Amino acid sequence: MNTTWAPAEQPESFAFDDESEAEIVNVLKKYPEERKASAVMPLLYIAQRQMGRVTGSAWIPLVAMDDIAHRLEMAPIRVYEVASFYTMFNTKPIGRYHLQVCTTTPCWLRGSDAVTEACRKATGIHHFGETSADGLFTLTEVECLGACANAPILQVDDDYYEDMDGPRTEALIADLRAGRKPEAGPTINRMCSAPEGGRKTLLETSASSPDQK
Ligand code: FES
Repeated sequence: MNTTWAPAEQPESFAFDDESEAEIVNVLKKYPEERKASAVMPLLYIAQRQMGRVTGSAWIPLVAMDDIAHRLEMAPIRVYEVASFYTMFNTKPIGRYHLQVCTTTPCWLRGSDAVTEACRKATGIHHFGETSADGLFTLTEVECLGACANAPILQVDDDYYEDMDGPRTEALIADLRAGRKPEAGPTINRMCSAPEGGRKTLLETSASSPDQK
């Protein structure tokens, strides 16, 4: 098959390994037998994660989609439709680390241009959709990741790095290149999406509040 969403060069075979098979058993327990087609997205993720684990490139070849179609008793085209619709599924080989920059309005207003530029500078990638010459990084532009309170967001594989700026992006990529994966989450002094530096409101506890005598 030669399509714009799936490369012409495809592996000839794919087999789920023991780790994936165990995950599939657990996923299928959640669905009635006659509704098992609903497990298509979890199974696509399992295939993608296995490819990342085994080959270093987390993508889903057509033979894996065909395997999923067979297991779920679906027409292969139905699986292709799902895999090619959602940007979370990679239908082409990608680099070891998938850098996904959110450029939707809140992230853009908070500096996603600087994050994108830092990604380009640190990886040598010129355009979204490309993989670096060393095969380590693929840069993708994504829409809102649902974490606008911590904008701008750089998603690396499945992890969110939050409150990013240019220098922190370059430092993160240097760590990844060196084989280190820093802890995900906020990169400034705050807990989750709480204010930087700690709470700013509701500072009195009920025991210490002057109104609670
Ligand atoms: S706009 Fe970037 S996370 Fe919502």
